[in-house]
Amino acid sequence: MSSELQMTTSAAAAGAAAPAHWEPNVIVFACNYCAYAAADLAGSQRRQYPANVRIIHTPCTGKIEMEHILDAFLKGIDGILVAGCLEGGCHFLEGNLRARKRTDRIREMLDEIGVGGERLKMVNLSAAMAPTFVERVTEIVETVKALGPSPLRDGLLKPEEAKSPESEGKE
Ligand code: FES
Repeated sequence: MSSELQMTTSAAAAGAAAPAHWEPNVIVFACNYCAYAAADLAGSQRRQYPANVRIIHTPCTGKIEMEHILDAFLKGIDGILVAGCLEGGCHFLEGNLRARKRTDRIREMLDEIGVGGERLKMVNLSAAMAPTFVERVTEIVETVKALGPSPLRDGLLKPEEAKSPESEGKE
């Protein structure tokens, strides 16, 4: 785990107070073959989803390393959706299964440090599942809005202000 992530505070657990006019920064890592195609279809069908979502086109969710997700949180992203092919449908065979394991692990880590595992979700889609894509994107934006800004955003929680989970209860 990144040393910067070895931290927790009760403020972090509660989520930082949202500045006025705050809107969450949410990214979607979308695999090329199914999820990105579903996003594209949603666009061509003129389906609406929140504008504060940025889609990052990836070859396969299996190519998304834990560092990519952790770095995104450390750089100020408030929520992440990993969108890959249906189970059994990954064009690289097991990329989406590896991605599922990684996202589950990071969700646990985010819970452990008080940031909130709900800020990270994974969805499996076929290229035709544009409505589900829109639903899941809307859902994570709503979840993150309810949680408030990520405590890992620059300036909201500095490493020196944080306690490691091990130090809790020893003071
Ligand atoms: Fe879509 Fe692997 S190609 S998840």
